[in-house]
Amino acid sequence: LLCFAFAVIVGIGNAAVMDTGGLSRDSFPKGFVFGTATSAYQVEGMANKGGRGPCIWDVYVKQPGHIANNDTADVAGDQYHHYKEDVDLLANFNFDAYRFSISWSRIFPEGVGRVNWEGVDYYNRLINYLVKKGITPYGNLYHYDLPQALQEKYNGFLNRQIMEDYADYAEFCFKTFGDRVKNWFTFNEPRIVAALGFAVKRYREKYQAKQKGSIGILLDFNWYEPLTRSKADNYAAQRARDFHVGWFLHPIRYGEYPRTMQEIVGKRLPKFTEEEVKMVNGSFDYVGINQYTTSYISNPTSPSNVTSYQSDWNAAFANAKNGVQIGPRANSWWLYIVPWGMYKTVTYIKERYGDMNVIISENGMDDPGNATLPNGLKDTTRIKFFKDYMTQLKKAIDEGANVTGYFAWSLLDNFEWLLGYTSRFGIVYVDYNNLKRYPKMSAYWFKQLLEKKQ
Ligand code: NOJ
Repeated sequence: LLCFAFAVIVGIGNAAVMDTGGLSRDSFPKGFVFGTATSAYQVEGMANKGGRGPCIWDVYVKQPGHIANNDTADVAGDQYHHYKEDVDLLANFNFDAYRFSISWSRIFPEGVGRVNWEGVDYYNRLINYLVKKGITPYGNLYHYDLPQALQEKYNGFLNRQIMEDYADYAEFCFKTFGDRVKNWFTFNEPRIVAALGFAVKRYREKYQAKQKGSIGILLDFNWYEPLTRSKADNYAAQRARDFHVGWFLHPIRYGEYPRTMQEIVGKRLPKFTEEEVKMVNGSFDYVGINQYTTSYISNPTSPSNVTSYQSDWNAAFANAKNGVQIGPRANSWWLYIVPWGMYKTVTYIKERYGDMNVIISENGMDDPGNATLPNGLKDTTRIKFFKDYMTQLKKAIDEGANVTGYFAWSLLDNFEWLLGYTSRFGIVYVDYNNLKRYPKMSAYWFKQLLEKKQ
């Protein structure tokens, strides 16, 4: 009833706005999965409660000056208590799947050893309810939220002990939730490939056959378009792609880092041992790609200033060509809306990495955090965003790209890292005063798009 009341208030039903541009579920291959994505730290709340140990973000957000308005994710959207409502929304809006992440320190408050069964029970409740509502769970094991205890104990990802500890945590999740969660992601935007290899190895050796599931990694990837057709700009764009996504895709596909990285980073690039090559090469069933934006890249003109890849990247990054901005900007400073970048991203992966099974694991845009409820609900720009990006995705699929799923970021407005609550990415508006959820027009747009024809 609430949904209906709001639908009336914001004038949903306006045919022009709700137009799917000819897209429907049937525009995509049979079995294509449509979902939304979130992460534990951004939506769960109960950060210091329910037996959960602190993660590195809990500590970071409490140091003044890091996060907009010094906000924290202590409560966020409180999915911990509102999970049923959230899963009902997914079901009501015709989604097939939900990508959520598990908070490592909610399961192992110290990162290793003692299990917090209260946390385990929470994920069991969430997963059981998803299954009950016919929503396929996609479990992500790591979304930036390293247990603080491991950071303090041995510097987290800077120490190779993390591989064993991560694999033990992952194994606990496979064992405990794998009877119902058949789709796993190891890392969102990872830093250490060897750790991925370890977890995947355990899953394959001990659980995959029995549980009949799949596993892969999640990588963010902006498209990099050369500013001009010059050789130098083309090479600069290739370097940017290799350092962004090739860093991970190359090892898991070909067992080594991309040529550009080998040349530029030289001896500082860690060498895989033969055993690591074997472990990493092919360590995926699918690859999740978080695709949002595109930028022009030009070769920096003063190479003497280039001291690191990061400064090279900063110098090369340009979002205007001949004074024309590459696309309209969303609320986030980095998010230029460039639908054709989706087509190029997916086509590039097909051409460079062969017939890799790709899932678009995040795609979406944000509005300012101070958008009032009525304004927040009328998210016509977001509808256009989804329509245009999905049209480009469809084009790439029609030309042979092996993409099997699409997840909108995000189900809910949530804690957007450094931007805190000054950014709203949800297709559902969250009123942070009372934690009420209000579906935006884009949610209704998806409902229409995803309607199943009998
Ligand atoms: C990347 C991250 O995976 C997610 O946590 C973040 O909120 C979105 N993209 C939007 O920036």
